[in-house]
Amino acid sequence: MKNHNWKSNYFSTLETEIDKIKEEGHYRVFNNIERKAGQFPKATRHHNGHSEEIDVWCSNDYLGMSQNRNVIAAMQSAAEKLGAGSGGTRNISGTTNFHIQLEKEIAQLHKKERALAFNSGYSANESALKSIISAFDNCLVLSDELNHASLIEGIRSSKKEKAIFRHNNVKHLKEILKGVDFSRPKIIVLESVYSMEADFAPLEDIIEVAQENGALIYLDEVHAVGLYGPNAAGVADAKGLSEYIDIINGTLAKAFGLAGGYIASSDTIIDFVRSFSKGFIFTTSMCPAVAAGSLESIQQVKKNPELRDTFFENVEFVKKELRKSGIPFLDSGSHIIPVLIGDSKLCKEISDYLLNQHQVYVQPINFPTVPKGTERIRITPTPCHSQESTEKFVEALKDAWFHFMPQLSKYESQFNTKSKAI
Ligand SMILES: Cc1ncc(COP(=O)(O)O)c(C=O)c1O
Repeated sequence: MKNHNWKSNYFSTLETEIDKIKEEGHYRVFNNIERKAGQFPKATRHHNGHSEEIDVWCSNDYLGMSQNRNVIAAMQSAAEKLGAGSGGTRNISGTTNFHIQLEKEIAQLHKKERALAFNSGYSANESALKSIISAFDNCLVLSDELNHASLIEGIRSSKKEKAIFRHNNVKHLKEILKGVDFSRPKIIVLESVYSMEADFAPLEDIIEVAQENGALIYLDEVHAVGLYGPNAAGVADAKGLSEYIDIINGTLAKAFGLAGGYIASSDTIIDFVRSFSKGFIFTTSMCPAVAAGSLESIQQVKKNPELRDTFFENVEFVKKELRKSGIPFLDSGSHIIPVLIGDSKLCKEISDYLLNQHQVYVQPINFPTVPKGTERIRITPTPCHSQESTEKFVEALKDAWFHFMPQLSKYESQFNTKSKAI
């Protein structure tokens, strides 16, 4: 055996980078939080050899569907029948009836000809965008400056020209497009709800610009599917605009409570991505139980609109209580409630204080998810949070707010919120 001392140079390079983020206060610590099926938002926190019950206030399981009895039963039954894993890529024995039914259901949900399921929303964005953009010679990509990392990676790996327009700024988008030939291929890439700013894209205006300039639209509806619109298909559905969106991306992991992502589009675009996207072709397909659970979850959400009614009522109730308590938050109209802190160490301290003193969990959101100086906590009410737990949470937040007031007031003036989604 040769001696491996030379490897220490590799490790020290990595350790230097890790030390840097520790110093800056945005080193990520994962809390061990075990949710309890049927009792969400209650969970058990395991910490320093102890366990305690806490309330979770920052989950993306927006409707609590991960604990829905019908969803769990569908997953159990699929696993009993087909086994745990899918056994291969979609091409190698990894296509089951559940995968096919799920894609049909998603296509119907978005009123599109066809859909394609991926193992995550991230890989759907990255792989689909890369293959679609790469197909067009001289393609120009127009990307909102706050787009999610998965969209950015998909655009970057296509190696085509990209122009970034200021967040939700249609005027800037128009300026960039001035003088660009109508016949040049273009794709506008954006999200419908931005999960850190909690705001909506101006979809009507974006569609108008796309039509005037001959551009396709790729819309990430990850934080909107299952929540908005008569069909629970997202913001395009809510505004009656689905037909004008060329490619819709969504996740099965947030409002639908499972794991996996997808795109929904025309027959030709889906056939193309299915045939050319490496992130779709060269990976084992999702477990049949996940496909079966996702299918059931979408159907349950559509069948039970009262779940979404309660969800939005609870969002409004939390906002009302926060206003009464004088705790400032970004109210951009969506279901997400960001409370700006402005410093990464302070943000972590507030989150730890809430967890340790009040047994309520909201994780700190720090760089690189949001720019330095706009650190925040992000509150996500669900239909499962009772009025009593909301009142307890707001009291806890009020206590933390006043406890940290001297430090908080130092950062108040610097809020120019520009963030990326998690
Ligand atoms: C806007 C946006 N798009 C895509 C994703 C990725 O989705 P998934 O969690 O299914 O990979 C996320 C985060 O999870 C997101 O916030």
